[in-house]
Amino acid sequence: MCGIIGYVGPRPSQDILLSGLARLEYRGYDSAGIAVIDGDGNLDMRKRAGKLSVLRDDLAADPMPDGTTGIGHTRWATHGGPTDSNAHPHLADDGKLAVIHNGIIENFAELKAGVVADGYPFRSETDTEVAAALLGRAYREHDGDLVAAFRAVVSQLEGAFTLLAMHQDSPGVVVGARRNSPLVIGLGEGENFLGSDVAAFVEHTRNALAIGQDQIVTITPDAVAVTDFDGNDVEVEPFEVVWDASAAEKGGWSSFMAKEVSEEPEAVANTVRGRIHDGVVQIPELDGLDEMFLGINRIVVVACGTAAYAAMVGKYALEQWTRIPVDVELAHEFRYRDPVIGPDTLIVSISQSGETMDTLMAVKYAASRGAKTLSICNTQGATIPRESDAIVYTHAGPEVAVASTKAFVAQITALYLLALHVARLRGSLTAAEIAVNAHELEAIPAKISEILATEQTHIEQFAHWMADTRSVLFLGRHVGYPIALEGALKLKEITYIHAEGFAAGELKHGPIALIEPGQPVFVIVPSPRESAELQKKVVSNIQEIRARGARIIAVAEAGDAAVLPYADEVLRIPLAAPLFEPLLAVVPLHIFAMGLANAKGLDVDQPRNLAKSVTVE
Ligand code: F6R
Repeated sequence: MCGIIGYVGPRPSQDILLSGLARLEYRGYDSAGIAVIDGDGNLDMRKRAGKLSVLRDDLAADPMPDGTTGIGHTRWATHGGPTDSNAHPHLADDGKLAVIHNGIIENFAELKAGVVADGYPFRSETDTEVAAALLGRAYREHDGDLVAAFRAVVSQLEGAFTLLAMHQDSPGVVVGARRNSPLVIGLGEGENFLGSDVAAFVEHTRNALAIGQDQIVTITPDAVAVTDFDGNDVEVEPFEVVWDASAAEKGGWSSFMAKEVSEEPEAVANTVRGRIHDGVVQIPELDGLDEMFLGINRIVVVACGTAAYAAMVGKYALEQWTRIPVDVELAHEFRYRDPVIGPDTLIVSISQSGETMDTLMAVKYAASRGAKTLSICNTQGATIPRESDAIVYTHAGPEVAVASTKAFVAQITALYLLALHVARLRGSLTAAEIAVNAHELEAIPAKISEILATEQTHIEQFAHWMADTRSVLFLGRHVGYPIALEGALKLKEITYIHAEGFAAGELKHGPIALIEPGQPVFVIVPSPRESAELQKKVVSNIQEIRARGARIIAVAEAGDAAVLPYADEVLRIPLAAPLFEPLLAVVPLHIFAMGLANAKGLDVDQPRNLAKSVTVE
């Protein structure tokens, strides 16, 4: 939530800031703004409500002076609506200091009262302006030492924040601080960058440093200094960004979501790569951690949204293969109910961004209770993996569309690899059983490609026919249940249509009352070869709702003829063992949601009210 970029170097910064913000726009797109210190040593600022294009057009129509020190921000509104005045940057010290912020300053009302009492004229409704006012005052009190001003101010702030500031009397310097909110450094040649994530600067450099919790960073063109909030120097961890700028570009695709759905096969293949050798599953990042997996008697998977549905799918495999009891919890519920966890518990967090505040807080809480923590994450240098005892990266590549697609299949893949890795260590599966499952996983990318090649056009046409639909239900059983939930979430998120997912067996306990003639219902049908009993039950559920007028859209494996008499539409997926079906069944649902959003003329990449990385609780 909120994208942040800072630049110092020899080049004019406006284009660098604007193109960085374009790559960060998925983090928030309510308003955008930039500030630069121009060649005459003055601080200039421009900000506009609306998408980044509004700011760009404004700057094109009415250019402002350029300079080589700058900061930029793209906003997802928290305090104060998306207006010009609430957009960042916020100025203080008579317009000489500019501040941008991501997060929420929870004690802002009390701090604001103090600043107002001193006569400070607030121009916005944001919590950020309080930080700007405090920094402006502290800058003067500390004789123009911006870092000292930061140290004085951050200790007063409660909540989560990344703050960046620059002062016109200190050109060539940008200072940042972070607590529970992301910030990374990009190291260039004679220039340096700060960003909410590496997308901010990846077109200029792939050399990055991850800043830890409660740290302050100062960048100048030739130097980077990081201290803790008390001013002690700290070591920062360098990393190389594994993808290049083109990976986060749309290329010829109509949307990032279209590109990312097309990358689902690669997301699985890249996540598997290097972790299966001749049927043996070994995740190199987990070398040396055998004791951790041998010493646990329970696993709790914490995640939010789509990642939580991946967790629900993963639970089936983890329990079946490792025989360790597994619970899945929404991360934002987890720590508020005094969960029973301790050194014997492994908390597996799943997060594409690695920054989701709810998930981060669950991980920190678990660690404070002595549990072991493992992060499944798609983003290098992100906070959640840095706060965890172990990391398994998904290698889906950058996911830019707000609705998660390729990360979802990569998350399930990583969970399956983890389950097989642990099963090998604990001997809960034989080598032959592990090899069979490993080969199933290795076969998935080609099967997803087959769906994209053979079904995508059909599903998109079908979605166009359904453009006027007001409500869609999704049903599944066993591993099909979380897929029903994911299908419904994706539809709500990008088409704004009412959609709900149910466990098919639950229907008769209430939701069947929703069925009226013409109600579209997607049903994830289990394989009749592999899960005959379950398939019969699902076919019975189909008959129950069909008898009440529902229109059935079945997602069924190739060759399953049993559904034909009951389905109005059949979306085919290739054959797979039951635990692997979710990796296939979800693909038609992603295509359908995208097709329907396109048919309604909606922005599939930036749906209303949402942002990709949810860094507030
Ligand atoms: C839905 C979606 C969200 C995220 C959720 C968690 O399409 O993208 O539900 O899955 O906000 O995000 P991460 O995985 O970044 O923790």
